[in-house]
Amino acid sequence: MRKFISVDDVADINALVGKALDFKKEPWKDQAVGKHKRIGCLFLNPSMRTRLSTQVAAQQLGMESIVFNVGQEGWALEFEDEAIMSGNKVEHVKDAAPIFGKYFDILAIRTFPSLQNKADDYSELYINQFIKYAGIPVLSLESATLHPLQSLTDVITIKESLNANPLPGKKKPKIVLSWAPHVKALPQCVANSFSQWINAWGEADFVITHPEDYELDEKFTKGATIIHEQDAALKDADFVYVKNWSTYADYGKIYTNDPGWMLTQEKLSVTNNAKVMHCLPVRRNVELSDEVLDGPNSIVTQEAGNRVWAAQAVLSEMLKSIR
Ligand code: CP
Repeated sequence: MRKFISVDDVADINALVGKALDFKKEPWKDQAVGKHKRIGCLFLNPSMRTRLSTQVAAQQLGMESIVFNVGQEGWALEFEDEAIMSGNKVEHVKDAAPIFGKYFDILAIRTFPSLQNKADDYSELYINQFIKYAGIPVLSLESATLHPLQSLTDVITIKESLNANPLPGKKKPKIVLSWAPHVKALPQCVANSFSQWINAWGEADFVITHPEDYELDEKFTKGATIIHEQDAALKDADFVYVKNWSTYADYGKIYTNDPGWMLTQEKLSVTNNAKVMHCLPVRRNVELSDEVLDGPNSIVTQEAGNRVWAAQAVLSEMLKSIR
């Protein structure tokens, strides 16, 4: 695997999930495969789970990891080709990325969208420029439109939960992605990515519920059932994935903050005792109630813990391409 920026880079989702769950059973079983290999983790934005889980995963494969907070500690990077760099951007990615390529064996990058310019964000300019110029395998730690390590983790967590608690009489679990209110305009990445992965996985009855005019890009959601009444969408759900996103069509806006969309224990009563997921960080009592987060339906900590095994499975595949 030379890059991991979307589900399209994965040949067999179930095989990758199986590999991750094997690492969960035996974290150190491949502790020599990354010996004398180094991953550079570049952060243009804040992160807790992605940063730490990737470092832990790399260490368990025998790799060294170096974190560089480009956004805070590095020179401001220019990403546009043929830019006249007379502003505040100090170094072009065309000059910086090949140097990362000399220092590291794998380059991992975390960027966010501007939420100002849809065309720029959806062209994935930042991560594509790193892929173009670094000359080494590139791993997304979340990009402008997708968060593949999070989504792989989510499929792992769903599969793990189904292995532990099969659903009698059901061929496929019902999985509902439910929009939640938030105080800030957030990217569509997690929701896009979750939709892309659940659709590609193909082993769920997948429903997305959100207020009117919060449609995501159809290229990610095609195949899902979209319902604007949250209570109807939640009926008989086995998993509810809660996430806020800002508007996609009229890009990056907050149209509503209706607290009626917050997931509460009462709302869960129409589900099949659904497991509740969220990528974290979560705004308590805005997106999800304390009662749900602290109650037996929440699997958010298990989910965040599984970030390690997703990263380890992907890094292990990427190491094969550079041995
Ligand atoms: N879920 C997730 O990506 O968390 P961080 O922003 O803390 O990395």
